[in-house]
Amino acid sequence: MSNNNIQIFDTTLRDGEQVPGCKLNSEQKVVIAEQLDQLGVDVIEAGFPVSSPGDFKSVEAISKIVKNATVCGLTRAVENDIKVAAESLKYAKKPRIHTGIGTSDSHILHKFKSNREAIVERAFEAVKYAKSFVEDVEFYAEDAGRTDNEYLARVCEAAIRAGATVLNIPDTTGYCLPSEYGAKIKYLKENVKGIEKAILSCHCHNDLGLATANSIEGVINGARQIECTINGIGERAGNTALEEVVMVLKQHPYLNLDTNINTSMLFGMSQLVSDSMGIYTQPNKAIVGANAFAHSSGIHQDGVIKNRATYEIIDPRDVGVTESAIVLTARSGRAALAYRAKNVGYELTKLQLDDVYANFLSFADRKKEINDNDIHQIIETSNVYQ
Ligand code: KIV
Ligand code: ZN
Repeated sequence: MSNNNIQIFDTTLRDGEQVPGCKLNSEQKVVIAEQLDQLGVDVIEAGFPVSSPGDFKSVEAISKIVKNATVCGLTRAVENDIKVAAESLKYAKKPRIHTGIGTSDSHILHKFKSNREAIVERAFEAVKYAKSFVEDVEFYAEDAGRTDNEYLARVCEAAIRAGATVLNIPDTTGYCLPSEYGAKIKYLKENVKGIEKAILSCHCHNDLGLATANSIEGVINGARQIECTINGIGERAGNTALEEVVMVLKQHPYLNLDTNINTSMLFGMSQLVSDSMGIYTQPNKAIVGANAFAHSSGIHQDGVIKNRATYEIIDPRDVGVTESAIVLTARSGRAALAYRAKNVGYELTKLQLDDVYANFLSFADRKKEINDNDIHQIIETSNVYQ
C-alpha cells in the first residue's frame, strides 16, 4: 500500500444496516459482501457479532466467503463482545476487531457515568484484550468530533501502546465543520506519540450534510482510511457515501490520493444495496441517483449534445451508467428533440423540426415527461407528416 492509497472501509452491513426500515437477511448480506469484495473495498465491517445470534452468523458466513478484503466485527470495550467477535471472525483470511468507547465529556458523564482516567484505562484494556485474538485491531473513540483534542490524543496514545493498528476518529453526531475535522486529524497526526505505528481513519456522519466534505478534509490532513456506506445509508442522516468520496478522489487527481475501488461497479452496487434493503435512493443523489446524469433544460441539453464536458464532470461509464439521459420536458429545446427523434429513427430537417417542436411543446405542457412512444405520436401528428 502506497502512502497515498486511501483504504476504503465499508460499513454498509454494520452502521448502514442500522438504518430504520432496513430488512436484510443473512443470505442477502453474503451477496452484498461478495460484491463489496469484487468492488475492491479494503475492509468490510460485516456486523456487530454480540448484538444477536443472527448477526453473529452473518459475520461468520461473510468471513468464510470473502477472498480479498479484511473482514471486521464491531465490539464495545467489553470483554465478552470482543471474545464473541473473535469467534465469529475465526474463518476470515484477514480478521480485524473494531473496539472502542465514547470519549466526549457527554458520553463519559452521561453514558458511562465515569471519568476521563477510567476511560483511558478501558480503551487500553479493550485493545490489549482484542490483540490476544487478532493482530489487526482498530480502536474507535466514539464522539471524537466533540472530544477535546488534547484528551483525544491521550486516549489514542493508550490505544497505540496496547497495539492498535488503526485509530478511528468518528464524528458520531455529524457536528464538525470540514475545517474543524481536518484540524483534528492534523492535530492527532502531529501530537499523538507513536502515531507512526497506526493509521488514522475518518468515520463521519451526515447530520449537517457534511460527511463527504469532512472525510475528504480528513484524508487531506493525513488520515489514510475512510469509513463509509453504499448510498450513504445509516442511522439518522446516514454515513459518508462510499461512491462520493471515491469519485471526489478520482476526479481530483492533483490531491494525489487514490483508492482500490473499481468505479465501474458503483451504480450496480448502489442498486443492489437499495433493492436488498428496500431503501429507495433519492433521484438527485450524487453519482448514483437516477438523475445524476440526466439533463432536462434546453440550455444544458444543447451543451451536452455538442460536448458532454459542458455540463458533466464525470463520464457516466466510469461509474457503470451506460449513457447520459436527455430527458424531454417542456423546458427542452429543439436540439434535444432532434437528438431524441434521431434515436427513434427520424432525421428531421430544420423546417420539419420547427413544426414538430410546436406540437411537442403543447404535448409536453400537458404531459410532464415525453417518452419514445410520445415522440412517435408527436411527429406523426405534426403538419409535416400529414
Ligand atoms: O459513529 C460512530 O461513532 C460509530 C462507532 C461505533 C464506530 O459508528
Ligand atoms: Zn457511525
